[in-house]
Amino acid sequence: MITVETVASLRDQVARFRQNGKRIAFVPTMGNLHAGHVRLMQEARRHAPVVVASIYVNPLQFGENEDFNSYPRTPSHDKVALLSAGVDMLFKPAESEIYPRGKTAQTFVETPGLSEDLCGAFRPGHFRGVATVVNRLFNLVMPDVAIFGKKDYQQWLIVRLMTADLGLPVEILGVDTVREPDGLALSSRNHYLSSDERNLAPRLYETLVTLRDRICEKNMGFDTVEENAIVELEESGFRPEYVSVRRQSDLQKPIPDDRQLVALAAAWLGKTRLIDNIEFELKS
Ligand code: PAJ
Repeated sequence: MITVETVASLRDQVARFRQNGKRIAFVPTMGNLHAGHVRLMQEARRHAPVVVASIYVNPLQFGENEDFNSYPRTPSHDKVALLSAGVDMLFKPAESEIYPRGKTAQTFVETPGLSEDLCGAFRPGHFRGVATVVNRLFNLVMPDVAIFGKKDYQQWLIVRLMTADLGLPVEILGVDTVREPDGLALSSRNHYLSSDERNLAPRLYETLVTLRDRICEKNMGFDTVEENAIVELEESGFRPEYVSVRRQSDLQKPIPDDRQLVALAAAWLGKTRLIDNIEFELKS
């Protein structure tokens, strides 16, 4: 695996791949890699002979009181994961390579509306930071295809919208969430959980499964199941931010004809913020 740390050496390598006419698949990450990330890299391999991954903990997407400083940075562990996933090139830039004029001076990308909804309502500026860094990474790596996890469902949609709006020639693919055997979605932030919290954490997904069944099997209304889920999460010891049923295509509130739905939730467990979602289809 080639590792590059500067924009200049990245561009050199990308030019070499392109000269040989090779398609590039790209998986952006913030490191602390787990089986979910590896799954994206395996999917990337199916779409191109060259797989490029990046590891960059992007300060622009963390709020002032969020965990930028404590976010787990595990370079030697990550290297093993990247090698096992067969990644061809790792881009591991310093902040000065990504934001050479400084992160506050950086030109940014905004996806209005959607970036203030759901997670964006609780994390102002988060999706602007995500769209800005992903756009810059796309322009540097120039991938043909980029792979994102549906675990971060809203992020996946925002990246798709941004890519379409800016006319970037990148195909965006989504990969299903990889879970622990007990249902908990893999996440770098799971390391923050105490052992008691870790035991409780799968209830977030269980609550979404119950919500889906209440809609699909018991025909219950969206408002009712959302309220029930919030109460059940609170009773389990979570501090929920939102539980919301949306349509998959644009994450707007469903209208009666919508069939392809997704229920999304964010909830705190102690000092850890967990998110999850479940896709489902309404029978007509
Ligand atoms: P990070 O949280 O490291 O996630 C990198 C990619 O892995 C994202 O596309 C995310 O959705 C996916 N992922 C995380 N957990 C997953 C799981 N359990 N199953 C499947 N995929 C999973 O998301 C980011 O980094 C950043 O916001 C980034 C896009 C890199 C921009 O900074």
